Amino acid sequence: MTKVLVATEKPFAAVAVDGIRKVVEDAGFELALLEKYNSREELLKAVADADALIIRSDKVGEDVFAAALKLKIVVRAGAGYDNVDLAAATAHGVVVENTPGQNSNAVAELALGMMVMAARNSYDGTSGSELMGKTLGIQAFGQVGRNVARIAKGFGMNVSAVDPYCPAEVIREAGVEVCDSVADLYRNNKYVSVNIPATPETIKSIGYDLLMSMPKGGVVINTARKEVIDEEGLAKALDERADLKYFADVKPDSAAELTERFGNRVFFTPKKMGAQTAEANINAGIAAARQIVAYFKEGSERFRVNK
Ligand code: 3PG
Repeated sequence: MTKVLVATEKPFAAVAVDGIRKVVEDAGFELALLEKYNSREELLKAVADADALIIRSDKVGEDVFAAALKLKIVVRAGAGYDNVDLAAATAHGVVVENTPGQNSNAVAELALGMMVMAARNSYDGTSGSELMGKTLGIQAFGQVGRNVARIAKGFGMNVSAVDPYCPAEVIREAGVEVCDSVADLYRNNKYVSVNIPATPETIKSIGYDLLMSMPKGGVVINTARKEVIDEEGLAKALDERADLKYFADVKPDSAAELTERFGNRVFFTPKKMGAQTAEANINAGIAAARQIVAYFKEGSERFRVNK
């Protein structure tokens, strides 16, 4: 029987697991669950007889593919697949897919929540400010960026976005101003929402110069990936400009040092929480299960991200 393993170090909500189970079992497949695993060995043992794998940010590399001799498909229930070694997957003949858009509203809501938190001085009792009428620059107009724009417009913010991979008319049709360069985005906006994937092009791309160019009271909200930040440049900018703030759902390696030095001008969730809602878990988890069923029953590779 085809065995689908859900391996999540950070588990889905129980209701999402129920939904995944129903899709898998209705298709005549078997579901296995490995949640909150503590060691690589546990994961390698669990994948040994799996035909399909559903993961979140779980790292899947050569060790997993070498141990999973029956594996044919891995679906990352979420957007970013920088945690999967695509070359190793291809070398082992394994299809890798993601579930684009399924958890993007959850991430976008958190981004706005963090903007409010920054505007209200982390609720420390002092007078803060409002988001209405303030400028917001969105770095990348993908699924999360589009949801950030939609919600921010509800707050009455003046929204612009930069995205070299998104046609300008798509940005304009969303009622958002097109910004031509990342440099202009940081220079012209009090708030910047980082929604870019971690790629060789974006890693460490946000640092001292961009942060220093921001208007007075600049706030950067990162719900994307920690790797896109140059942490040394971030610390230097926060040190030289007491008005800047950096709030992230993706804790930097230097989080403890930054918190000690800059207090409530920085904020980091203890664990990545953007997609951690029942709705996002249900949407992404069930989409992943359906994609696996479509792969085995119809040969569909619609959301494949490796060649
Ligand atoms: C994603 O890429 O989909 C988000 O970063 C969510 O990741 P998570 O499933 O690990 O919470």
